[in-house]
Amino acid sequence: MRKPVFGGNWKMNKMVKESIEAVKQLKEELGDVERVEVAIFPPFTSLWAVKKIIEDSRIGLGAQNMYWEEKGAYTGEVSPHMLLDAGCKYVILGHSERRQYFGETDAGVNRKIKAALSLGLTPVVCVGESLKEREAGRAEEVVESQVKKCLEGLDLQQIKKLIIAYEPVWAIGTGKIATPHQAQEMHSFIRGILEELWGKKICSSMRIQYGGSVKPENIKELMKQPDIDGALVGGASLIINSFVKIVKYEE
Ligand code: 13P
Repeated sequence: MRKPVFGGNWKMNKMVKESIEAVKQLKEELGDVERVEVAIFPPFTSLWAVKKIIEDSRIGLGAQNMYWEEKGAYTGEVSPHMLLDAGCKYVILGHSERRQYFGETDAGVNRKIKAALSLGLTPVVCVGESLKEREAGRAEEVVESQVKKCLEGLDLQQIKKLIIAYEPVWAIGTGKIATPHQAQEMHSFIRGILEELWGKKICSSMRIQYGGSVKPENIKELMKQPDIDGALVGGASLIINSFVKIVKYEE
């Protein structure tokens, strides 16, 4: 059985004070959650403050990006060691916004994944096709190539520690959600690729999150799909009440 995992990706939102207020509320509502795994991804500037609040709860902390080197002359970058030091357990890698605006490539994501894993951080690896690619009938081809390139060279021990997030670019922040059927189709396709490369035994236990306009209103149907193991939530995670409703989708 796969334990569903819900992430709140705050992106470039919330000042330190706002982060503290939000996460205090989150802790009250979800601090002892056991049925599912919950992680919050504040901006770098809020990591330490958020960590101080959630450290005695079951809510995990993650960052939205990192560089692969340990330290040195890389102005503007943050290393996996620094994330660990700030209390992170997770790191989002290869988000489509990083690919789109900051030129991230699959090869770079691959290096980052390896660096994160070597320190025991759990990478949340994002893949997903654009609208143009879907309309051209290339969604599966694009996602397959991202999965294979991002995960190239990982061994069984490494692969089983990952979380994959399928985030169709056309559904991010647009209110246009993939139908549960479309999402399930791609999740099952991704699991198939993983199983082919790393074996059924390991990959049937790997978690694949859906991301893109997830709201309290649509999470229930998504979670009914056999290969959807949680969600990576952007906009709706900024409002703690909505995020809590998403996490408690069964109630
Ligand atoms: P939205 O939930 O705002 O569509 O964002 C999804 C996302 O990018 C999560 O990483």
